[in-house]
Amino acid sequence: MKKEAEKVLILGGAGYIGAVLSPYLMEKGYDIKVIDACWFGNYLPEEVPIEKKDILDLEIADFEGYDTVIFLAGLSNDPMAEFSPRANFIYNTGMPAYVGFMAREAGVKRLVFASSCSVYGYTHNSTFTESDPAVSNYPYGVSKLQGEQTLLALADENFSVICFRQGTVCGYSPRMRLDLAINTMFKNALSLNEIQLSNAKIWRPVLGLSDLCSAYESAVKSSLNGGHIINLSSFNTTIGELARELATYMQVFHGKNISISDNKLQDYRNYKVSTEKAAELLDYKPAQTAMDIFQDLSSHLNRFADFDNEHYYNIRMFQKRINPEQVHLMN
Ligand SMILES: NC(=O)c1ccc[n+]([C@@H]2O[C@H](COP(=O)([O-])OP(=O)(O)OC[C@H]3O[C@@H](n4cnc5c(N)ncnc54)[C@H](O)[C@@H]3O)[C@@H](O)[C@H]2O)c1
Repeated sequence: MKKEAEKVLILGGAGYIGAVLSPYLMEKGYDIKVIDACWFGNYLPEEVPIEKKDILDLEIADFEGYDTVIFLAGLSNDPMAEFSPRANFIYNTGMPAYVGFMAREAGVKRLVFASSCSVYGYTHNSTFTESDPAVSNYPYGVSKLQGEQTLLALADENFSVICFRQGTVCGYSPRMRLDLAINTMFKNALSLNEIQLSNAKIWRPVLGLSDLCSAYESAVKSSLNGGHIINLSSFNTTIGELARELATYMQVFHGKNISISDNKLQDYRNYKVSTEKAAELLDYKPAQTAMDIFQDLSSHLNRFADFDNEHYYNIRMFQKRINPEQVHLMN
């Protein structure tokens, strides 16, 4: 008899990451469903089942029968979180807590939470593992850390929680974002022949979408029990080094001379992370290099060459599209 496909519910699965991850998991044979309020539209292929709904309106019955819940929802960057700290804490801390509670009550086996390396805040250039202190003082980082903690408190031998602390994600997605560090740098190099850096010495872990997808697939397959925090990145780099690599790429493949300027501003985020735990627990083997990511962006350029399209910038869409009276969470 054919084994039934594992059922995966992807919350926020129509966003930048979800628009790549949801069809990826479907192709791998998982029985998936996306629930998303489609704040930025829906760019999923037609065959991906989606229900347009706010996650806060879900009930325990909506989680019944699923093996895994993947949580990709909430406010996904600092500008959104700073625009409405109140909404930020409700969506990034309260909502994961509520989802975790409902999923566990419904008998879901595991929950995978899209957290962020932002929780590490400003570190002093040593490579951080998951057991090093996570100290951030700004709404997005604090709310992601609290989101992790509420979920880990629910984990037990029947309900496993994996919190992926993701580096800055980059690469092409049908729901494109040009407000993410590497994607923005790529767009500026192409359109302005210039890369302006806030501070070239700042460290960031960079996570390509393809490496991200393989890590989520391993998480969905894993037999881990209890709660786990796991760093995810393809590689660590300084922003300056990344800019130099991009300038070389632009010279060779687009015939452009790119100037790089460094504003030497104080950043409140600076971190590089170890992915040894991901390797050990999930057999994670990151493969993407900076060149692979530039190549991925270049090869899909005709799909997002309208660089000023407001859909590519979360804060613009968030400020415009979220009805403050309806959501009643906004300042
Ligand atoms: N993109 C990155 O670089 C990055 C890095 C680290 C962590 N993360 C985290 O990964 C997750 C996904 O990021 P992304 O880049 O795909 O973000 P995104 O903003 O493109 O997608 C988020 C999706 O969630 C949906 N959503 C949010 N709140 C909802 C609600 N209450 N009900 C229904 N749908 C809701 C939105 O409509 C959107 O489609 C986020 O939680 C983000 O914080 C992203």
